[in-house]
Amino acid sequence: MGRLEADPYPIYGRLRAEEPVAWVPAVGAWLVTRWDDVRHVLTSPESYTTTNDASPLSTYCGSQNVLNQEGDRHAAIRKAVGDRFRQETAPAVTAHARSVAARRLGDLADRDHADLMAEYFEPVSVETASWLLGLDAVDGVDTATLTRWSTGLTAALYNPTKAGAAHVTGAAVSGAMDRTLTPHLARLLDQPDDSPLSALVHAAGPADDASWGVHQTLATVRMMTSAVREPGWLAGNTLHALLTHPEQMDALRADPGLLDAAVYEGIRWAAPVGAVGRLTTKPLVLGGQELPAGAPVAPGIASANRDEAAFPAADRFDLLRARTTTPLSLGLGRHECLAAHVVPAIVEGALRQLLERFPELHLEQDVRPYGWKFRKLDTLPVGWRDRSAAGA
Ligand code: HEM
Repeated sequence: MGRLEADPYPIYGRLRAEEPVAWVPAVGAWLVTRWDDVRHVLTSPESYTTTNDASPLSTYCGSQNVLNQEGDRHAAIRKAVGDRFRQETAPAVTAHARSVAARRLGDLADRDHADLMAEYFEPVSVETASWLLGLDAVDGVDTATLTRWSTGLTAALYNPTKAGAAHVTGAAVSGAMDRTLTPHLARLLDQPDDSPLSALVHAAGPADDASWGVHQTLATVRMMTSAVREPGWLAGNTLHALLTHPEQMDALRADPGLLDAAVYEGIRWAAPVGAVGRLTTKPLVLGGQELPAGAPVAPGIASANRDEAAFPAADRFDLLRARTTTPLSLGLGRHECLAAHVVPAIVEGALRQLLERFPELHLEQDVRPYGWKFRKLDTLPVGWRDRSAAGA
């Protein structure tokens, strides 16, 4: 497990070649590593379901969360809230992320180094996602609270034993979110507004269950809260890739128009979500492996992104690669990330503001991303030599 957490990519490469659907005891699931198989699993809900009421996601977020739903209830939630996350909203999201980023960078202006994860990427990500979801209008929810909730939930979701300190924190966050959000949701039931929270609470639900709106909204918002730092992780992983590939960073400095290519390549090469989860709905064969009904399967999206069958020279971080294939980092099919269009917009806003303000950024320590299910940097210590260029 240690090797998988430290650097899963050599292991993924071996599995793709030798055992593309492999039982990994430490993961407790069949790990799927080839591009074609991962795509097949994600786009075949009749054979591979997200519904798993015993999963940590259901335990800590609530089983009515959107990701745990299939069929009509899932479609109703996506329909209710989908408009807020369309491609057309991306420019407004980038602009908002840039304004949040400018304020955060202003706080760093009289410094010459910082830990960009704690002091920049995560706060920009959390604040922008909070605005996007309408959580910034809820009494008692500020950036620090949302960050604490997100951290507690992520730890609990990463803990298949559902025991120990992560369990205690996960259960406490779940309860705190219930107490904080319920009065706001009750108000929105009577007085709808144009926020995603309002759209969620009014999503069409089962006729015989009047409490469904509030319950599924609480569960879905907990699930989304676990994700509010992820755009920051992606921005950190992408910047780290650029700083450790100086020729790529030079190309970007020479042509800032390459930033969207850098974000695309960061999403592919440095995916912050490495694998997702499914249960088989019936006995079937996947990648030559017979699986019974109810078998836990982990589609390895980060592995698929490094499959030569989909991306030539897949292990190379290369801004100039042809963008003909969409990486799987934001999922695919019915459960594709709700924020798939806005995540690149947040990352682009945060990176553009940073690189314009501090063009001479450099790494101050040899840090590396860690983790396989979630892969991110704990710290990103950087300095900026040329403070006059900071415009401070
Ligand atoms: C870099 C950032 C992010 C990444 C890499 C990411 C990745 C993913 C992936 C891979 C899935 C598919 C899960 C599956 O198929 O089992 C997913 C689903 C989802 N994501 Fe994200 N996500 C990110 C950020 C966010 C944010 C900021 C939000 C909310 C504001 C969000 C909301 C959702 C929701 C609601 C789903 C479930 C969709 C459904 O079941 O229909 N994600 N995400």
